[in-house]
Amino acid sequence: MTSQATLPTDRTLPRASSADRAMALGGLLIGGKLEQKLLDRVVRKQGDLISTWVPGFGKTVMVLDPQSVRDMVTCPHGALISGRGNAVLQFLYGNTSMFLVDGPSHHRLRRLLVPPFRNRDTLASYARIMETVAEDMLRHLPTNKQFALLPELRHAMLEIILQVVFGLTDEQRLAPFCAAMTELLDISTSTSSGLRDILKKQYGIKWPRLQNALQRSDQLIYAEIRRRRAAPTLADGDDILALLLRTTTEEGDLLSDKEVRDQLVTLLIAGHETTATTLAWAVELLLQNPQALEKVRQSIRDSHAGGDDSYIDAVISETLRLRPPIPVFSREVAEDFSLQGHRIPKGTLLVAHIGYIHQRYDHFENPQTFQPERFLGKRPEINYYAPFGGGLHSCIGNHFAALEVRVFLKVMFGKGEFSCKRRAEREKRQTILNLPGKGVRVVFKGMK
Ligand code: HEM
Repeated sequence: MTSQATLPTDRTLPRASSADRAMALGGLLIGGKLEQKLLDRVVRKQGDLISTWVPGFGKTVMVLDPQSVRDMVTCPHGALISGRGNAVLQFLYGNTSMFLVDGPSHHRLRRLLVPPFRNRDTLASYARIMETVAEDMLRHLPTNKQFALLPELRHAMLEIILQVVFGLTDEQRLAPFCAAMTELLDISTSTSSGLRDILKKQYGIKWPRLQNALQRSDQLIYAEIRRRRAAPTLADGDDILALLLRTTTEEGDLLSDKEVRDQLVTLLIAGHETTATTLAWAVELLLQNPQALEKVRQSIRDSHAGGDDSYIDAVISETLRLRPPIPVFSREVAEDFSLQGHRIPKGTLLVAHIGYIHQRYDHFENPQTFQPERFLGKRPEINYYAPFGGGLHSCIGNHFAALEVRVFLKVMFGKGEFSCKRRAEREKRQTILNLPGKGVRVVFKGMK
């Protein structure tokens, strides 16, 4: 396939037939193996760019072609913007969230927030927080009875990101934040939230439960911002809130409380649900694959003797390939764009379906099998493997997330004993999340 720069741009992409459009969209809502089957069928008839129209989003092209994903993430600045796909989350993150803005204010936020999540020293200090929280979680898990692991992991990951973002360590101060964010996330990722968002946009229909949950979490966050602003020495800290409070715009102004709030909520939400889901899937896949689990255990034993974590890291990459918690990412066309020689007009929403691409037979051997070895010593190309998206809006928490999953796997399988039923858990699509249907039901047999 040719690259974006060399393509003719006069052909428009024909719209898929209504049956194919229904199959592609139905698949996206359902997720799992059925989605893969439906999309395979559409791709055979239609090719791997599916032009459609989605209620609430308008003209949309579903991108199932690896080269086009590369074109999306390597395109010149300004050609594609965050756009109305990401704007679905505006009600939660706020309109100044780095996830939703483009141009200079987006660059400024990334310059500020990428280093603490990628710097070796800050990551090492976060690893200590992660280990403490993981050990604490293990001590409090119910023993010898079946329970869903995902809610426990969510709570632990939320506690970690709250500590990192606000610098809060005191259990009493953390508790109200944990409760408010959990409530907010439960409501906003419920299956009906996408539909409600469309109803609100199109007909102004309000959603009081969400409004109240947002109000409660905003009250806490704004109170914390005011407390930190009022005590200038507190703003000297090295947590993320302190960084945001010290930041100035190009004009030399401090960020407003609203801008600070929007980044905090973005990090709190983006930074725990995804990681908890990845870890839950990793545990499930390992418990279903005893040989891989034994290699993880061996790797943990070796790491005490100076060995490296390459097998555990391969497990994490393979989990993100097979069960990416966010299977799609999107961009809006800001200037006419070209994919596979087709002119994609301004205003079109491009939805890159990496969950589908991760399981393409032409690139991965036995793509539906869990085989961490395929990642040992190899880094796949961005067009075939992009669980963290790519380009200007790529995930800023990828290193942080990998570290968190690694630390938890080491604590959970190094210090604890788990088992689960032999039947693999189904995938459940909830808004844009790819969740384990039953939250990964396990039995914890206790500490070793
Ligand atoms: C396994 C865990 C995670 C996965 C799979 C994941 C995945 C993603 C994806 C797919 C995107 C959209 C990228 C794009 O549009 O190109 C994204 C964006 C983002 N993620 Fe993550 N993420 C994870 C963990 C985290 C963590 C731990 C944090 C924060 C500490 C975080 C913060 C963000 C932010 C701020 C953005 C928006 C970046 C921007 O628009 O410039 N994520 N993530």
